[in-house]
Amino acid sequence: MTDLSQLEADLAAQIEAAADAQALEGLRVAALGKSGSISALLKSLGAMSPDERREQGPRINGLRDRVAALIAEKKTALEAAELDARLAAERVDLTLPAPPRRKGGVHPTMQVLDEMIAIFAEMGFALAEGPDIEDDFHNFTALNFPPKHPAREMHDTFWLPENERGERKLLRTHTSPVQVRVMQRTNDKLPGWIANGQEPPIRVIVPGRTYRSDSDATHTPMFHQMEGLVIDRNIHMGHLKWTVDTFIARFFETPAVETRFRPHHFPFTEPSAELDVRCDRSGGEVKIGQGEDWMEVVGCGMVHPNILRTCGLDPDVWQGFAFGFGIDRLGTLKYGMPDLRDMFASDRRWLEHYGFSPFAMPNAATGLS
Ligand code: DAH
Repeated sequence: MTDLSQLEADLAAQIEAAADAQALEGLRVAALGKSGSISALLKSLGAMSPDERREQGPRINGLRDRVAALIAEKKTALEAAELDARLAAERVDLTLPAPPRRKGGVHPTMQVLDEMIAIFAEMGFALAEGPDIEDDFHNFTALNFPPKHPAREMHDTFWLPENERGERKLLRTHTSPVQVRVMQRTNDKLPGWIANGQEPPIRVIVPGRTYRSDSDATHTPMFHQMEGLVIDRNIHMGHLKWTVDTFIARFFETPAVETRFRPHHFPFTEPSAELDVRCDRSGGEVKIGQGEDWMEVVGCGMVHPNILRTCGLDPDVWQGFAFGFGIDRLGTLKYGMPDLRDMFASDRRWLEHYGFSPFAMPNAATGLS
């Protein structure tokens, strides 16, 4: 006959000494499992006489209940100890330096765009936008390009396939079509952001993507322009020159950048000019504001009367000037990138080198230091 008190004392001691959950589970199986020591005792009840069973039954069942309770208690204690150990081991030390995080950067074109907008905003220019997919009317005809005129070919236009109405849309070759959209009110249902007819006086800048089938060190098939348009009474070339000169000086952060107008031809301006800034190319890189050379930075002129008429404005009342900057090109000049094509090659090393920190704006109001 098994000594129940001895068995209980042995089991209690083993349970107490169990080092972890696994050991405890081993003890449970050995005592209460299918072929465990207590289970064997319970089975032996079947072979006993009724009297014996009446005496042994409560003792064995009591033993089983107390051992099961001891195991459950020990299990809770082991789990609590394990949690304490983990809490101690996995404590977060908030005083440790954080591992370095990869930061995104601001693309030079977007940096230059922000700087340009800040400068023109201070001069009272508002922003206007037009669509990248344009029609022939806005991109050429309304801008006084005669039909079949070779200037249309000069722009190396990306034409889209003809649509069901027989029209061929195009990827705009410049931001100048938005001049027309700003001045001419149409009844077309246009998305809210597309400029659609405002009363003069008008003072807008129009940044955006432009496209030409062209690729070399100073040309990419997609590039960015910023159009400017001012329409008011008694506007003349002097206003244009002051505006562009003031912008150039602020953008290049030098008070005295020498500029010159050079006569040019654009169908949509009369007279037309290109504005050059003095620069130095002798050291292999371009330095703006000094030296013996000139560099073209902007096309401009007085808005052609034909365009005012097309847009429903009387040229005897309203005059204006317009200009068109290459945004990426200004970036390459200011920040010294040798090849425009790198701007859009998505080379991470280039972007990390020439990109701007989004958190290091010297002056949040103007984007300039
Ligand atoms: N649209 C011209 C181009 O892409 C640039 C330009 C020249 C814009 C003269 C103007 C302007 O507004 O007056 O070459």
